[in-house]
Amino acid sequence: MSKSKDQVIIFDTTLRDGEQSPGATMTFDEKLQVAALLDEMRVDVIEAGFPIASEGDFEAVSEIARRTEHSVIAGLARAIPGDIKRCGEAVKHAKRPRIHTFVSTSPIHLEFQMRKTQEEVLDIIHETVTLARSLCDDVEWSAMDATRTPLDYLARCVDAAIKAGATTINLPDTVGYTVPDEMRHLFVTMRENVANSDKAIFSAHCHNDLGMAVANSLAAIDGGVRQIECTINGLGERAGNAALEEIVMALKTRNDVLPYACNVKPELLTRASKLVAAVSSFPVQYNKAIVGRNAFAHESGIHQDGMLKNQETYEIMTPESVGVTKTSLVMGKHSGRNAFKSKLEDLGYELSDNAFQDAFVRFKALADRKKHIYDEDIEALVDEGIASAADRMKVVALTVIAGTMGPQTATLTLDIDGQQSTVQSVGNGPVDATFNAINALHPHEAKLALYDVHAVTEGTDAQAEVSVRLEDVETGRQVTGRSADPDTLVASAKAYIAALSKLEVKRMRGDATAPVKALAGAERRGP
Ligand code: KIV
Ligand code: ZN
Repeated sequence: MSKSKDQVIIFDTTLRDGEQSPGATMTFDEKLQVAALLDEMRVDVIEAGFPIASEGDFEAVSEIARRTEHSVIAGLARAIPGDIKRCGEAVKHAKRPRIHTFVSTSPIHLEFQMRKTQEEVLDIIHETVTLARSLCDDVEWSAMDATRTPLDYLARCVDAAIKAGATTINLPDTVGYTVPDEMRHLFVTMRENVANSDKAIFSAHCHNDLGMAVANSLAAIDGGVRQIECTINGLGERAGNAALEEIVMALKTRNDVLPYACNVKPELLTRASKLVAAVSSFPVQYNKAIVGRNAFAHESGIHQDGMLKNQETYEIMTPESVGVTKTSLVMGKHSGRNAFKSKLEDLGYELSDNAFQDAFVRFKALADRKKHIYDEDIEALVDEGIASAADRMKVVALTVIAGTMGPQTATLTLDIDGQQSTVQSVGNGPVDATFNAINALHPHEAKLALYDVHAVTEGTDAQAEVSVRLEDVETGRQVTGRSADPDTLVASAKAYIAALSKLEVKRMRGDATAPVKALAGAERRGP
């Protein structure tokens, strides 16, 4: 009789660790969209945010908790009673709530960041995990910088957390420092040396500073871990976290040597990757494993020859298994509403009537300007519509004079809260002129931190996808806006406006009170 396989719990932290990476901030609606897709994908645990960080984070975690059908909803809290209570409030409406609390354990963090002794930290673990457990039956405790913590002291911390009621013990490689063998050894040591280690599930949370986050996570499973923390597209602090799609496909594709069960539906991975790339405005590198544009492309003659004879010569998994549909020429200007609707369904979109009407009008406008419309064009068009639906400002008209003669001049009409105004500005190039025109119509304090353009498909009539990252000079918070249009300058103006709108929404929701700068050093609220 075959033995049933151990389950590996997939814990997604795109909305917490991922959203923490500078510029990847998402709006409330974007967070709800990502959470809904993660739930549909059957991710076991969704870390929805860090409720104490801001009013906006609290509201997003609470709303996700209310709406989620299947996944456990976790919120993050520092080892501070106020954080833990606020987190408990935010997740309490979830069908399956979890409080995730953490404290640093490594000597360097204790000496310079916390200014606490090892004994003091042990007391903190006891008090905070006990408090969390009084509010919620499902409590995860994390030892921040676990991989740089002496194993004997780490074992005492784990023991204290389990005794106080933690049901999951997460030992993160916070700074992406460890290597696979060391990671395996760390978990084997904890499981062998902590008296009640079988009372909790062990978990790994690996950062990718040395490019080993996924390898370290898989080694941790070998060491007895049964929960992996990861993010879509590997988004996260600095070099990011272990990529969820890589973990899931490693477990599915190499189940012969990694014989574990995993609930995640792989056919939704591509959609999730595209959604997260769109809302975070972090493009996916072309040769990224599983979800990169080239992940299933075969260029060399020998490879193409092999593929024609048998797909398995050069493909270890099929593109369809991760939800890649063949790039197809979909429609043109004669395509009707029904064809457009069924295309959207194929691409995984479920739009409300209003959003559908809006997308159809914009599809027709695009079809008038661009002969061939591909799946990627439709995705860019719909994602942009979703992102800009709530914006107060809209581009009504833009004319730019560019070329060798100069000065480059932009004439721009913006609609701000229903009022239209026009201005003409010059600049050092057409993009600069366009941004100067926006600044003239809507003066603000934000600083341009990044401007990035790439083509959505091939050809000189391809839509340009532009990302603009702005930094609020007062708070240091960065946000990114994104837009696509066959005209690069129109896409640039819309992306700039999208970023400005995001900054305003953040300010209104009180998120600016939890800025990146104020979170730095001793006052830092985030992990
Ligand atoms: O990297 C880290 O240590 C974290 C913890 C808060 C889990 O993100
Ligand atoms: Zn982390």
